[in-house]
Amino acid sequence: MEPQNKNSRPQRLKIGGCDAVELAETHGTPLICYDEDVIRDNCRRYIASFARNDNRVAYAGKAFLCLAMCQIVAEEGLYLDVVSGGELYTALQAGFPAEKIYFHGNNKSLDELTMAVTAKVGCIVVDNAHEYQNLKEVVKAKGSVRPVSILLRVAAGVDAATHPYVMTGHFDSKFGLSLGSQELNNLVADALNEPSLTLMGFHSHIGSQIADLSSFAQAVDALFAGVRHYLALYKWLPLELNMGGGLAVPYTDQDEHVSPEELCALLLNTAQRHMDDLNFTPRLTVEPGRSIVGPAGTTLYRVGAIKRTPNGRCFVNVDGGMADNPRVALYQAKYTCSVADRLDQPRSFVYTVAGKTCESGDILIWDYPLPEMRSGDILAVNTTGAYTYSMASNYNRLPRPAVVLAKEGEAKLIIARETYSDLTRLDRPK
Ligand code: LLP
Repeated sequence: MEPQNKNSRPQRLKIGGCDAVELAETHGTPLICYDEDVIRDNCRRYIASFARNDNRVAYAGKAFLCLAMCQIVAEEGLYLDVVSGGELYTALQAGFPAEKIYFHGNNKSLDELTMAVTAKVGCIVVDNAHEYQNLKEVVKAKGSVRPVSILLRVAAGVDAATHPYVMTGHFDSKFGLSLGSQELNNLVADALNEPSLTLMGFHSHIGSQIADLSSFAQAVDALFAGVRHYLALYKWLPLELNMGGGLAVPYTDQDEHVSPEELCALLLNTAQRHMDDLNFTPRLTVEPGRSIVGPAGTTLYRVGAIKRTPNGRCFVNVDGGMADNPRVALYQAKYTCSVADRLDQPRSFVYTVAGKTCESGDILIWDYPLPEMRSGDILAVNTTGAYTYSMASNYNRLPRPAVVLAKEGEAKLIIARETYSDLTRLDRPK
């Protein structure tokens, strides 16, 4: 996204070379617009700074997944992390190579495990003992000739510096087996003797929107403490250590900016010290989601009613809100925005951008400086590429927005807008 800086005034917002107001007029609002070059550039930055030796970068599809996104991820040579039968189905429909898929989730159903084994996904990340037993049964029932590769998801005991709802590496987490626990010892022992499975190693993901590199360093140290433990206990060294994702992106000027390069350097350097010590070289995997797609997305809304309350707050109501972006209501997330056709105008007014659902908490941005707003304006909310469409709902029976992919002045519709008939498609009269 970049302001057009020609002689023409007033300045207009461009996304992937396309005029934002024209995108809104052509495709309607709310509209999530991705700049394809930004997505590809982020993929390449991770590959360039991490994927040496046998190391891998896997895109965490939960941040945003659709057929076109799977195609981009495949073209850029990343692996893919899916977390449900639905994400797996999407990847397979897109023709994403099954052997490059990691299948995650803390409560995979028997059907999902069967689907993953049948599709021959590259690796199943086993979250807990119950799932481990289920997987063994599924693999035996399938009579798979090749053992199925697994990673065991571990909780590294790291309280990452982030919102409590997106912390996942603490021992009290619902995810994974605590490093050092008897339960994990038992599973490792069992897996090492289980002919239908190949235990590749461990997976640790400590949370999301983390800008504090020391949290990542702690997690790597904890993972290697686990490696030492199992070397002593079972004379076994893992072939792969997956370090998860979690890198923060800056949503506002107040947010710290840590680049993928800085994260990758920290992960690799921290791991290397342990690898040198232990004299072994496992494959390392990193799994970014938000930092691939977050900054590439902008949501365009059309402004409707503008209302001033008796105590002076001025609401700008837009035609979307928490149904297409629940992150503010869920995590008190902060965003920035601009008026798409008046980027250069002084921001002399203060507005609160309100969504259209029946919730007082449906506010996209509180008390934010903007030029004088008019009904009909296109308001562009920045950095909405991650965990927006993928978390969108039909609350208030709002159809989910359309999504376009813009590049070099051309925009392609990659997810069509839901229609009213989509909304009743699954309803059955009584
Ligand atoms: N790997 C695993 C196993 C994960 O659970 C996640 C995210 C990732 C990788 C990617 O993390 P990222 O690089 O995107 O931070 N809905 C929340 C974020 C939930 C993250 C869930 N897991 C939000 O909107 O902030």
